[in-house]
Amino acid sequence: MHELLNVNFGKRFFSARFFYEVIFAIGKYMFEKAIAQPLFPTHIWIHCLKDQEAKRINKSAVGSLSRMMGCASAEPRGGSRQSSQNLHCFPEFAELVGIFNHASRAVLDTMRVKYEAFEITGCWANIAGSGASHAMHTHANNFLSGVYYVQTPPGTGAICFQDPRDQRDIIQPRFEETNQFNIVVQQVAVEAGTLIIFPSWLKHSVPTNTGQDERISISFNVMFSDYAKTISPPRWSGIPLQSGSSST
Ligand SMILES: [Fe+2]
Repeated sequence: MHELLNVNFGKRFFSARFFYEVIFAIGKYMFEKAIAQPLFPTHIWIHCLKDQEAKRINKSAVGSLSRMMGCASAEPRGGSRQSSQNLHCFPEFAELVGIFNHASRAVLDTMRVKYEAFEITGCWANIAGSGASHAMHTHANNFLSGVYYVQTPPGTGAICFQDPRDQRDIIQPRFEETNQFNIVVQQVAVEAGTLIIFPSWLKHSVPTNTGQDERISISFNVMFSDYAKTISPPRWSGIPLQSGSSST
């Protein structure tokens, strides 16, 4: 049983390794073993709340956002709005912020990051009306970013991530099909109650809301506390100079 690299392309699930093994199995020369080994994979971290919890939390979030941002029913086509970027300071969102912190800590621990503390540096709601989209971008000066989906009516449940390897643009052949070996922009299906955490440097975009109703999501950024003091110092330790010695 191999460790499979499952990818969701719409409704199709398949494994990159399985593909490679099948290709070799029907070839002329039989190797004892042939696998496609991913190197330096880029991970996003997908969490799904339990259904009942998601419904309760999302209902509360919608109520709080409509009180804070007003009714969005008059939003023109293609329009989107963002709340202030300090939702993590409001008690109405304390439970969600607790979930964001919990999941972020688990990601950092899984990555085996050595740190003293981290904090949410910004948290905001995105309300995207019919026709709204968000261009490719990153979240500079943060380590992790996340997005939680509060409301995803039909036509709104996706986020796209771009292959961070710019070198791929040097040669651009045509492909017989899109798969794990050649895809450039990966669309990930999401639904209400889904939380995705990803590296802040990873380019992402939001496809057009092709439905009639609003997509509501809450985004946040995570950065190490006291970064300059606890993370950025040199990772090597040289021989300390003796008092009075020359450094030339
Ligand atoms: Fe973003």
